Amino acid sequence: MSRVKALLIAAVVLLLGRGRPKRERRPEHRIVPPGPADRRAENLVLLLFGGVTACGVAFIVFYAIDKLGHETQWLGLALGLAFALLTLACIVIARRLVVTEELPEPYPEDHPDEVETIAELIDESGSRFTRKRLVTLAGAGALGTLGLAALTPAASLGPALDTSALKKTPWRRGRRLVDESGKPIPAADIEAEAFYTAYPEGADRELIGSPLVVVRIGPGNAGVVAYSKICTHAGCAIALYRKPTFPDTQPGPALVCPCHYSSFDPAKNGKVIFGPAGRPLPRLPLEIDGEGNLRAAGGFSGPVGPSWSGVRR
Ligand code: FES
Repeated sequence: MSRVKALLIAAVVLLLGRGRPKRERRPEHRIVPPGPADRRAENLVLLLFGGVTACGVAFIVFYAIDKLGHETQWLGLALGLAFALLTLACIVIARRLVVTEELPEPYPEDHPDEVETIAELIDESGSRFTRKRLVTLAGAGALGTLGLAALTPAASLGPALDTSALKKTPWRRGRRLVDESGKPIPAADIEAEAFYTAYPEGADRELIGSPLVVVRIGPGNAGVVAYSKICTHAGCAIALYRKPTFPDTQPGPALVCPCHYSSFDPAKNGKVIFGPAGRPLPRLPLEIDGEGNLRAAGGFSGPVGPSWSGVRR
């Protein structure tokens, strides 16, 4: 505990003493004896810092390449290697490049004259470095690149200023609904108590506004309804369809998001009947074409996806 306290006091003293003029150094007097230069250790540290920088850059590049196979493993490898090299660099500095001096007396509580002494101690401990500025620069570059790599995943939080892309959906009047294999979906094929996923024909399925859930809530063509498959709570997929096993006493069917169990009533325009979602599931109006297949009759009843500022009603 007293060692920690001494270190804290040393740090404060150093900070306070930074701006003060340096004491005139007596060339014959040193607190820490000068250590011999070790160019090989210094080169090794420079090499290790270079490796850390390269790994940090590699992490950013791997993150940016969207279609990279085994991306998670590559990211982990880059980050793990960066920290391993950084650790090695610290060990080499501590063991081969920093002159250590142990003071046998306890650190004094009262330290009015110790500022310069500590600054001198630290300065002299680095006497083995012959290219201090270069090593400092390499270290700063390595840590800076690692910091940048740590911030890179924030880019996946989505657009910060222009969020209009999140509001775009491929659904227009007349666009046909297709199943996973791209086949049109006849309205008559939608059975009661079943759950179907549909996509817009000829459009990007990866768009947040593309996937639909289609269920039957009544007889005939009018009994088929479609909703966005993206939960309005936090954007997970609606993956469950709850149907009452004993309709006389149990609540009606519901589209359910398994993440936090938000439940939406398909018979009441996607109204939230349970869970944390703050607004209804957007509904897509449907029409039936001449061949009996489902088509969109317009756009969604509301913004698709999770709610955020400006979307929540
Ligand atoms: S994301 Fe659907 S309930 Fe939370």
